Amino acid sequence: MLIYILSRNIELYSTKRLYEAIKNANHKVRVINHMYCDLLIENSQFSIIYEGETLPTPDYIIPRIGSNVTSYGEKVIRHFEKMGVRSLTSSKGLLISRDKLRCLQVLAEHSINMPTTYFSNDFHEVEEIVKKKLGYPFILKVTEGTQGLGVYLIKNEATAQNFFDHFSNSKTQVVLQEFIKESSGRDIRIITAGQHIIATMERIAPKNEFRSNIHRGAMGYEIKLSENEKQIAVKALKAVGLKFGGVDIIRSKNGPLILEINSSPGLEGIEKTTQIDIAGEVVKFIEQDYKL
Ligand SMILES: Nc1ncnc2c1ncn2[C@@H]1O[C@H](COP(=O)(O)OP(=O)(O)O)[C@@H](O)[C@H]1O
Ligand SMILES: [Mg+2]
Repeated sequence: MLIYILSRNIELYSTKRLYEAIKNANHKVRVINHMYCDLLIENSQFSIIYEGETLPTPDYIIPRIGSNVTSYGEKVIRHFEKMGVRSLTSSKGLLISRDKLRCLQVLAEHSINMPTTYFSNDFHEVEEIVKKKLGYPFILKVTEGTQGLGVYLIKNEATAQNFFDHFSNSKTQVVLQEFIKESSGRDIRIITAGQHIIATMERIAPKNEFRSNIHRGAMGYEIKLSENEKQIAVKALKAVGLKFGGVDIIRSKNGPLILEINSSPGLEGIEKTTQIDIAGEVVKFIEQDYKL
């Protein structure tokens, strides 16, 4: 197979690992910077011009699109899809997973449980909603945030008001969410490909931190999933139209709840925690998927 990894930097751990795994499996591989892909439509034919060259059509692409370039990356994936190329991450799945509200709307449609979530254009009813549905403290999240950076724990009305003023001035969209106290500082990352769970780790935040992102200093630990949790991960991934991704859940007193799905999960933390060759497993999955 000829496989392209769409990535802006060959030096990134995940890009490097995937590159090596593809080579080890005797396939041809190239790292293509999606930001330099020009998209040509001519006589109803799709092609991609890359640094002066018309790119040979690959058999498969592995998109690793950064969250700051989702919009352009999605167009590039879509162009490859129109060329008949299979993608580990569909353009549709990328878009759904990058918007927390959209992702939760789709998951709820498939009866997957999540913390109670609220979205409003101007938050005019917010005091009532917080009183009746969420309570204090509650969670506020920027819909397109990542690595825990746009996630806040709001403890009282005065703080809430400051945040709403700030975000409505900057026209940033946010969702409000019930705070799952019993899981504070912990979540579970489940790397899933199709029907198959590749690797799982629990992430535990440092003291005085409710966000369990590795980028916020959390540590990874091995953990065993229940059958129900495995099924949720597989079902959630399928619901958003992804073949591969990191499904994040938390354990609440009412059972597992989904937080989000990452379409380009980082491999470093979880490969080091679990000692699983995730990149190799991804290539095996691609080989099977290509035959279907
Ligand atoms: N409703 C919630 N209740 C408790 N903790 C939460 C909740 N939502 C998020 N968190 C914590 O904050 C972290 C970051 O939130 P998340 O929605 O995954 O945003 P990001 O995309 O920035 O990672 C989660 O990994 C979890 O530890
Ligand atoms: Mg997260």
